[in-house]
Amino acid sequence: MTPSAKPPRSLTAIVLAAGKGTRMRSDLPKVLHRIAGRTMLGHVLAAVQAAGAGRIAVVAEPGREDVAAEIARQAPGAQVFPQAERLGTAHAVLAARAVLDAPDDDVVIAFGDTPLISAETFLRLRAPLAEGATVAVLAFESPAPAGYGRVLTEGDCVLAIREEKDASPAERAVTLCNAGLMALSGRHALALLTRIGNDNAAGEYYLPDAVALAVAEGLSVTVVPVDEAEAQGVNDRVQLSIAEAAIQARLRRSAMLGGATLIAPETVFLSHDTILGRDVVVEPHVVFGPGVRVADGCTVRAFAHLTETSLEASVRIGPFVRLRGHAVLETGAELGNFVELKNARMGAGAKAAHLTYLGDAEIGARANIGAGTITCNYDGVLKHRTTIGAGAFIGSNSALVAPVTIGEGAYVASGSVITDAVPDGAMAIARGRQAVKPGWAAEKRAALLAEKARRGKT
Ligand code: UD1
Ligand code: CA
Repeated sequence: MTPSAKPPRSLTAIVLAAGKGTRMRSDLPKVLHRIAGRTMLGHVLAAVQAAGAGRIAVVAEPGREDVAAEIARQAPGAQVFPQAERLGTAHAVLAARAVLDAPDDDVVIAFGDTPLISAETFLRLRAPLAEGATVAVLAFESPAPAGYGRVLTEGDCVLAIREEKDASPAERAVTLCNAGLMALSGRHALALLTRIGNDNAAGEYYLPDAVALAVAEGLSVTVVPVDEAEAQGVNDRVQLSIAEAAIQARLRRSAMLGGATLIAPETVFLSHDTILGRDVVVEPHVVFGPGVRVADGCTVRAFAHLTETSLEASVRIGPFVRLRGHAVLETGAELGNFVELKNARMGAGAKAAHLTYLGDAEIGARANIGAGTITCNYDGVLKHRTTIGAGAFIGSNSALVAPVTIGEGAYVASGSVITDAVPDGAMAIARGRQAVKPGWAAEKRAALLAEKARRGKT
């Protein structure tokens, strides 16, 4: 049989996600902290799925419904195994013993607190197993290795991994660090893991001890290199910010290589799912929250904040806009400064140039929304919709009290409070009439000055 005729090797991923992460000083479990708008656990589950894991087991603290819900959202087929006592990484893997009893060809172990590992790296990590390795460990060189397990080698051979707490001074000087993740041959995984003891400084069952055990049995162990930045683990909020910075750098780079201009990329914050089309220009200081799609040729000016928003081609927004809760701008629509859209759709070529709130609204094509227009969508209890027809003109400083409909091509006079439907082509004016009193101001001023002079004398 030629190698290419071999059936593909099956893959199980075991993701370790138990533990509060005490050093995060948080009510939220560590793995639910977010980077680029997605939980760390979500990043890891996405990467192992993209790497082709047919079976996923997540080891989690028992009774955490928030963790279970996130797993169900990010990897619906994953099995969840509780680890009641946190006795170490090898103990955690054995909580998922059921998947090792009937193993796949390859098993990769991922950490929920190591969110930057890409699918490609998981593939590189498992690759040596197909060549006969029993264990593959992911490792990086670091000028500041403190805190990490050290990979001890002799020549090209791996001997063991030593945790910082157990390392001799000479071992602490080693700069090759364990990234924590490991690939194990399914055939050997359970036997190796069950033999790991807890005779060490922490009294924990250490997953990295699988290396020394495999070496002692003459099984092949391989080191797979990875960049330190990608191997970044998150144990506290400083490391969380370092991971965020790394992922932002990755997202900005791929946005720019995809054809978007980021004038000051270091000031633009993207989400894991942000999509920017070709010839999109993003000015400085823009935040893209989750669920944003920007089509070709759009301009996003400075200080925009967008979540759950879709901009169709050639839309121009900002500066200083906020779009959220399913905002849609059809082709060529424009928003100017200080405009907020929530759950609102602007038709093609529609404009709202200044100081406007449009919530729960449908705005027809080419409609013009004057400065200071507010959709009054909330009555204190319920939300209501505003519908504005194509080509309508809403005069400045109008309040549209929803539910309300403005017809196609209709006019609303400036300063109106609109509570009733305005038919197509009609004009609605809803404000006090202007009264002009000739000479009134001059007379009044003269009277006031006379009064002032009288008081000054007494
Ligand atoms: C671990 C490695 C260390 C490596 C480092 C890389 C061990 C013993 N040490 O150290 O060699 O350099 O990662 O970042 O593996 N977990 C459980 N249950 C447990 C213990 C841990 O689920 O009982 C999970 C944690 O949620 C975390 C992961 O396993 O996602 C790693 O545990 P952590 O305590 O953070 O290990 P480190 O001390 O960082
Ligand atoms: Ca860690």
